[in-house]
Amino acid sequence: MALTKLSRSVEGYVVFVTGAASGMGEATAKLFADEGAKVAAVDINRDGLNRVVEEIEAAGCPVRGWSLDLSNGEAIQTVIDEAAAHFNGLDMLVNNAGISIFSSIDGADYTRAWDKSLDVLLTAHTRTIRAALPYLRKSKNPRIVNIASTEGLGATKFASAYTAAKHGVIGLTRALAVELGEEGITVNCVCPGPIRTAMTEEIPEEQKLTYARRRVALKRYADPEEVAHGTLNFCLPSASFMTGTALPVDGGLTIKNA
Ligand code: NAI
Repeated sequence: MALTKLSRSVEGYVVFVTGAASGMGEATAKLFADEGAKVAAVDINRDGLNRVVEEIEAAGCPVRGWSLDLSNGEAIQTVIDEAAAHFNGLDMLVNNAGISIFSSIDGADYTRAWDKSLDVLLTAHTRTIRAALPYLRKSKNPRIVNIASTEGLGATKFASAYTAAKHGVIGLTRALAVELGEEGITVNCVCPGPIRTAMTEEIPEEQKLTYARRRVALKRYADPEEVAHGTLNFCLPSASFMTGTALPVDGGLTIKNA
């Protein structure tokens, strides 16, 4: 007989993961599948998405993929409606998809970097949340997790569009935690540090090592799966009183002075 009341299982619940074709989105989709959730996976990269969906299916887990550009608000509504119809509901939304475009403030490409970054990294979250809300309101375990970044807590040179968007993700998370709290919907965000994904693969290995040794308490880049576990923790029924938080999963990057 259990000594406590709250469940640490997402089994049977439906999760909607954006950016599931690669990196942390892929790791999140696979982790939730392993934990018994039904996975609705979306990405703009159709081939990558098909690969991930096939791998999850091969493990015998319920999954369906939708090719989707998160810049397209109408398509988001259609896909979320289809996912909820397919799985008979939607309980957990993970806003993970992202891009990183570097430009100095006076760079020729700055306006494009700003518009695209804000659109994909921040505005898209509001689109998916608005589309998913009617389903989350019917759920017994309604959870929203936004993937921000340690760039939401600090800043790196030449990344002001990305940094502003990620600060915005934390602000949006806090605002919606307050707004949706009385409905029992929790809204949290994860702030990953340096992670080995497609987004960071062009950084030479030597540069990664130097950076990690200097800045990260654990002295290394993380595997995407290590971040997915942070996301899963926010989605557990037992995480019922956690809302409005920004959780660094950064190997100690943000607390390290020297
Ligand atoms: P990734 O590049 O491996 O995966 C991002 C996915 O998002 C890709 O599959 C891509 O196709 C998809 N995507 C991009 N634009 C899209 C759009 N318009 N519509 C639909 N899908 C789209 O990158 P990673 O690292 O896994 O990134 C996941 C999240 O983590 C992002 O929000 C990123 O900003 C954040 N992050 C990454 C860090 C890192 O060190 N890799 C550190 C901190 C945060």
